[in-house]
Amino acid sequence: MKKLPPLLFLAALSACSGAQKPTEPDGAANYALYCAGCHDPGPGHGGTMLLAEKGVPVPSLIGRKDLELDYLQSVVRNGMIEMPPFRPTELSDSQIKQIYDHIMAQNLPARAAAFSGNEEL
Ligand code: HEC
Repeated sequence: MKKLPPLLFLAALSACSGAQKPTEPDGAANYALYCAGCHDPGPGHGGTMLLAEKGVPVPSLIGRKDLELDYLQSVVRNGMIEMPPFRPTELSDSQIKQIYDHIMAQNLPARAAAFSGNEEL
């Protein structure tokens, strides 16, 4: 059998992917959608600023190495004083786990480390 020219193969691939249902957002996408607005490093993020006021050494979620999955899971489910809770229909347990894995895989950017007053990072 003659091989398909590569371009034709690509065209066939993209035609197929158009028919597939969109892929589920991963941990990074859900973090960006549900958490980043309040918890990204730097000023202007309510959660980060409040945690900084409380004296948490790394106030943004990104860059934290001390978070336990169980703790994060229960904060997300129950909310905290200023933080809204998320129902299982909004974020499933496995989606929260993916967000957790995403957070734990990131390092704090140097500029944000300076903002948090933690220059050793
Ligand atoms: C509307 C803003 C807002 C959103 C959205 C939000 N948070 Fe929060 N979060 C906060 C605030 C504010 C606090 C500080 C708790 C308080 O009120 O004292 C907090 C606290 C936390 C804490 C506790 C940190 C600690 O050191 O004890 C965790 C963990 C957390 N949030 C995770 C998340 C995750 C994961 C998401 C996304 C699924 C999220 N939050 C979405 C505002 C938010």
